[in-house]
This record gives sequence, structure tokens and C-alpha cells, in this order.
Amino acid sequence: MEIDKASPTSFPDGRPESAQPKWRQDFPIDVEADAYGARRDFTKFMVLTSLAFVCGQVWIAVQSIFRRRQSAKQRIAAVDDLDIGQAVSFHFPTDRDPCLLIRSAEHEFLAYSSLCTHLMCPVRPDLEHNHLHCPCHEGYFDLASGRPTAGPPRRPLPRITLLIDSGAIYATGVEERLS
Ligand code: FES
Repeated sequence: MEIDKASPTSFPDGRPESAQPKWRQDFPIDVEADAYGARRDFTKFMVLTSLAFVCGQVWIAVQSIFRRRQSAKQRIAAVDDLDIGQAVSFHFPTDRDPCLLIRSAEHEFLAYSSLCTHLMCPVRPDLEHNHLHCPCHEGYFDLASGRPTAGPPRRPLPRITLLIDSGAIYATGVEERLS
């Protein structure tokens, strides 16, 4: 909206300036200009909020790329440390990323992030029923694939890629999956 600087200030009650109380004459507020200022402030607020949101998204993307690059080979356990049906927890790729390593068969090891993809509660292995269980909202994940089978989670658990070398099990990467 264009503000005509030459036009006299308009008062809220519509009366001329001479009929206004002294305090309003001393500190006149142009009602139209004030509304214009409010819209401009609102637009500024929206632009800054959007900018902050975009910066947040970029920051998350950069962090995720950085963490993926950080995923170097890390020893988790010796093969003989786990019996069939046993699970052990570890952290990968950083100390803030809890994971589970599960020995599901003689020659089969599975590893997943142990943070539920719903609201990040820790999941627990239930090997007897072939699933991982999140007690927070009764979420269930298939043990073999890490995919959600019941409850609120919609995304699979990130899979930790493994390497078995000379009797030891290593984590080598994190596979984020959307479905
Ligand atoms: S946090 Fe796991 S089901 Fe809600």
C-alpha cells in the first residue's frame, strides 16, 4: 500500500486535528500508516521465520552428510561373544547413536539403530517373536528387515551395515531408509 506523505494524519475518531485532545495532537498516530506498518512487520516476521526454517533444514542436511562420512569401520564384538538369539548394544557412528547387534542364526547377524522412528524411544529386541518392540506407544518392527509392522512408526529402523572379519564383527555404515 502506498502512503501519501503529504496527506494529513487521520485520527481514529475521524475528527480533524483541532478537535483532538492535546495529547493526541502532540503524539499523532496515523491510523492507516500504523496498519501499513503492522502488515510490513508481519511480512518481515514471516520472511525471517521462513529463513530460519530453511537454515534449520540446511543445518540438519549438512549434519547428516557429515555423520554419514564419519561412519568408519568400528569393531562391535567378537563373533563368539554372542550366542544365537542374543543381542548386544553399541553406539555407531557416534557416541550419541545407540544401536543393537543381534545374532539371529549361526551365520546371521543383524544390526539397527535402536531409536524408534516414531519418537526416538529405545526399541528392545524380542527374538522369541521375531520383532523389535518399542514400549512407548507399542510400536513393532520386523526383526529381519527392521520395517515397522504395527503401531505408530512409519519408517524402518536405520540399518547398520556389518562386516565380519577374522572372527570380529564391525559396523561399517548406516543405511537410512524411507520405506
Ligand atoms: S516412540 Fe516408538 S512407538 Fe512411539
